Amino acid sequence: MKIIGTGSALPSKEVTNDMLAGFLETSDSWITSRTGIKTRRLLSTETLSELALKAGMSALESSGLKPEEIDYLICSNVANSYVSPSLGSILLAPLGCCCPCFDLNGACAGLIYSLDIADAFIKTGKAKKILIIAAEEPSRFCNWHERETTVLFGDAASALVVTEGEGFKDFRVTGETHTDALYYKRSLETTPYDRVEEKTTPLVMQGREVFKLAVRSCIKDVDMLLERNGMKGDDIDMYLLHQANLRIIDSIREHLEQPQEKFPTNLQRYGNTSSASIGILIDELSRAGQLKDGMTLMLSAFGGGFVTGATILTWSEVHYPEPTKE
Ligand code: UT7
Repeated sequence: MKIIGTGSALPSKEVTNDMLAGFLETSDSWITSRTGIKTRRLLSTETLSELALKAGMSALESSGLKPEEIDYLICSNVANSYVSPSLGSILLAPLGCCCPCFDLNGACAGLIYSLDIADAFIKTGKAKKILIIAAEEPSRFCNWHERETTVLFGDAASALVVTEGEGFKDFRVTGETHTDALYYKRSLETTPYDRVEEKTTPLVMQGREVFKLAVRSCIKDVDMLLERNGMKGDDIDMYLLHQANLRIIDSIREHLEQPQEKFPTNLQRYGNTSSASIGILIDELSRAGQLKDGMTLMLSAFGGGFVTGATILTWSEVHYPEPTKE
């Protein structure tokens, strides 16, 4: 499998650390030093499905495929206002696609889980041209009176088009139960019979525990993939890691003894956009001409669950259409 199209979309509303410090007991210096985040984009006048559509259209356009050529749509999404239908179902008609679709909740590792499944579909011949859209609005899970989680997240969408080819070498995805470390609980409708009390609990996170789990598991995934493929850290040209916290990325980089240039980041501008984060990074680097033919990339992500995903691939350049003049 290889990537032949990329796209991303961000909300227009920018919210800086100083803006948050205006109503939360926090500061730009705390957020910057603990996370690296300076500002983020949050949904205000747009909806998540509009953002997802924009990212998907942009990936389709760069792939050179027509929407009707897509034979599977996978949407990576933790939650949005619709429990049903799926985000994939909502997007099919506006995208112009006519194919099966489903949503996948792989938390922040959802894009890599989606790629892993797409790879299996392509290998078995179940599908040949797959559109993956990762669209997330984690800002809507937080209690906006609590500084612990609110400052960390941003909303965004990213998309990839994948098809047969010599790109992806290997995947490793994992899952473990750590319900208390990171959760957001929504109550459903009551029935005359349910006897278990339920209430909505905005995002709860044991920050330090998630931090340690993230560093430990990412290192394990990356080391295992390198070893399994007879590679060393030096053989990877770029590590595109989940954009949650600069200190997490630095800890992984220090373990691998690799230079900072190999670890591009954009969390400073967007915060943690959950499963959309790696796709935005790929789209931005690819459009800026920084991903060259033949480069070896390592993608690695972790998220609530606890789940992780990592993959190694050889990049083939995507050719973007010239922007049309207004
Ligand atoms: O995609 C997966 C999502 N989650 C993550 O990746 C999160 C992983 N964890 C982290 O990134 C870090 O643990 C945090 C950035 C969340 C927190 O950093 P930390 O260095 O682990 O801080 P802490 O939780 O140990 O808190 C240190 C202090 C506490 O005050 P005291 O007890 O020392 O007086 C907190 O109450 O910082 C306080 N604090 C804040 N202060 C200002 C917590 N949040 C804030 C805040 N502004 N926003």
